Amino acid sequence: MGFLIAGVVGIATVALAWLQAQRERRIDLEDLDRRMHLVTHQIKDSVHDALRRPESGTAKLLADQLEGHRRLLGFAVFGPDGRRIASGKAVAEFTEEMKPALLQALAGKSEAIATIRAQDTNLQVLATRLTNEDGALQGVLVAVHEMSHLDERAAMRMVHFAYWILLITFLLIILVVGVTWAAYERPLKNLAEWMRRLRTDNAPEAPPTGLPVALLASETERLAASFRAARLQVSTDSRSITRDHKLWTRERLRAQAVDCLQGGQLVVVSNREPYMHQLRDGKPRLIVPAGGLVTALDPILQACGGLWVAHGAGDADRQTADAGGRLTVPPDDGRYTLRRVWLSREEEQGYYYGLSNEGLWPLCHLAHERPTFRASDWDHYVEANRRFTAAILEEIGSSEATVLVQDFHLALVPHLLKLARPDIRVGVFWHIPWPNPEAFRICPWRAEILKGILGADLVGFHLQQYCNNFLDTVDRMVEARLDWDHFAVELGGRRSLVRPFPISIESWAERGVPLGDALTRQTAQLQERYKLDYGPIIVGVDRVDYTKGLPERLRAVGRFFEKYPQHRRKLTFVQLAAPSRTHLRRYRELIVELESLADEINWKFQAEDWKPIHFLVDHHDAATVHAFLRMASVCLVSSLHDGMNLVAKEFVAAKPEEDGVLVLSEFAGAARELSDALIINPYDTEQFADTIHAAVEMDVPERRARMQRMRQVVEEHNVYWWAATFLTELSATRTSDLRNSGQFELPKGLKTAGVHV
Ligand code: G6P
Repeated sequence: MGFLIAGVVGIATVALAWLQAQRERRIDLEDLDRRMHLVTHQIKDSVHDALRRPESGTAKLLADQLEGHRRLLGFAVFGPDGRRIASGKAVAEFTEEMKPALLQALAGKSEAIATIRAQDTNLQVLATRLTNEDGALQGVLVAVHEMSHLDERAAMRMVHFAYWILLITFLLIILVVGVTWAAYERPLKNLAEWMRRLRTDNAPEAPPTGLPVALLASETERLAASFRAARLQVSTDSRSITRDHKLWTRERLRAQAVDCLQGGQLVVVSNREPYMHQLRDGKPRLIVPAGGLVTALDPILQACGGLWVAHGAGDADRQTADAGGRLTVPPDDGRYTLRRVWLSREEEQGYYYGLSNEGLWPLCHLAHERPTFRASDWDHYVEANRRFTAAILEEIGSSEATVLVQDFHLALVPHLLKLARPDIRVGVFWHIPWPNPEAFRICPWRAEILKGILGADLVGFHLQQYCNNFLDTVDRMVEARLDWDHFAVELGGRRSLVRPFPISIESWAERGVPLGDALTRQTAQLQERYKLDYGPIIVGVDRVDYTKGLPERLRAVGRFFEKYPQHRRKLTFVQLAAPSRTHLRRYRELIVELESLADEINWKFQAEDWKPIHFLVDHHDAATVHAFLRMASVCLVSSLHDGMNLVAKEFVAAKPEEDGVLVLSEFAGAARELSDALIINPYDTEQFADTIHAAVEMDVPERRARMQRMRQVVEEHNVYWWAATFLTELSATRTSDLRNSGQFELPKGLKTAGVHV
């Protein structure tokens, strides 16, 4: 390449120099012509006179005048017949060479000019025709000028010019190379050096700045984040509780928790309560609310004991708790205390339905639902967070405690808790995705929410990607110091670690669902009740939420029956749909939309005693969910965006015989761990329908192999493992004083309300 450039530069230099030399030679020639005309003109009259005399006298008369001076070699005079009459000494020898110009003048041309080569030099010849007053030819005057100096000058100029061009080209090359080095090579070299140091565990905090492409810069930051996370994970794992590969059980967690809590109390706080009482026919009926949070956290408290603070949302909640809002749960086997927090209708509307579910929920889930933010909702949100904090402080009094704050409803609680009790350990777990900073920045209270969360010593998400997004968001939206090496944030003298903890489940046996004969009887009842006597079923289990991709799922099931008619009357799709947040219009409308979609599909394909879709809207208890999952040969999870999705893991856990196929959305966090599921894009109906077909047709050995691997993941990484890793990491954090840090101000009006114990 270097030679090629040098070659091209060389050829171009020579060509340019040659062209320039030619141009200047032309100018010199014109100049020479002018001079020859001038000197010819000066002696022309004398020659005229001399030619009028007899020939012998002519030569004598002109003798001196025909001699040249310096480069003008001299003149020669020829008669009308072309004979030389007289000439200067120096030109006499060139008579032959003058002939072409002479002949032209004799032939009638008033003057003829020619360049001739003689005796290794170039001569310029100007022949001028001389006539008398009648126009008759008197003779021809020829001037001869030597030209070698012109050629020498041309050659010199060419060299000179080439020299300048080379110099300028050289300077240009230096300039281009310099600029390239400064703009590309140096930053890229720095980047490479930084990556090397990153690899060898010694990198500075941030990647080098000034990278030539913005995208490269942002990708580098992400790459660094992932790399550090992976390294951190490896080092954490190597010193961690997971090293021995022994399965995590309730007992093992309890022992680990005793170590971690060091005599302090374990407190879980969430909006949703694990046990809710609703009036049915005038009597309280116990409901275990659907949703991953309750599914995951209840076993932890059952194992460790402690306190769960949550909103008492059931209409029979007050009558089933004591005056302080407390009761022991599970009601038939009291293992821990549930403390209910009472909120007025208006508060619930603003804090839960408004800011939490119409604002933060769609903000964090990229499911094309526009978030709504109202200032009045925010005020309620702040007030509710204060109320939850006050309840926790009231319960723990002055004792030691570790508080696990759950989810997006309570983002301000960590900070409020630390304001009142800087000594307690606070962890927060965000059960839903954390979006990228561009998506999050539309929240009007983004800084307050971030600072609220950063009151915690440990901030947990399901996936590393959410941790990266969170740190990116903090980096751009609050004045905090990021420690990328340890995935930590320092704000107002406090430090919060940010870590992924993929949440999980306990086994079905531990949940006390019917097994063995009892399960067989239950299955038979369900089959009879729902007329499911057409062989295997495909199942879906969800809260009715627009993030779950339910219309997409029904459409794919419809397409499946349309495209593969051989499965009609042989397979049935059962969707267990738990109504959720029905106070919000969007959620009510979704149920109506889904029911009519199911009707449409059923109408299209149903036969006399078979309908393709059973859409069962109800609060199904754990036993029913388990029975359906156990019955199903295929389970569909089609979330448009989901923090984890525990139904996917529940299906795997419900398959001890290691048979069954999971079809799982690539946009659910669970897809990272359950890579043996058939992964789909729920927006792609055709691919989704084909994948259902592939799942139904999959041969037994492959089904088993996939299921075996997924079961191993779920068994090893069960919810006890999740809680143990979280508690262990939290217990290793340092707590520090947040009082007077001034990092988070309550909005006016609420400030004075403070946190009262
Ligand atoms: C998700 C959220 C939980 C919530 C659950 C059920 O899993 O992360 O915080 O409890 O949905 O929603 P709900 O509004 O009924 O509590």
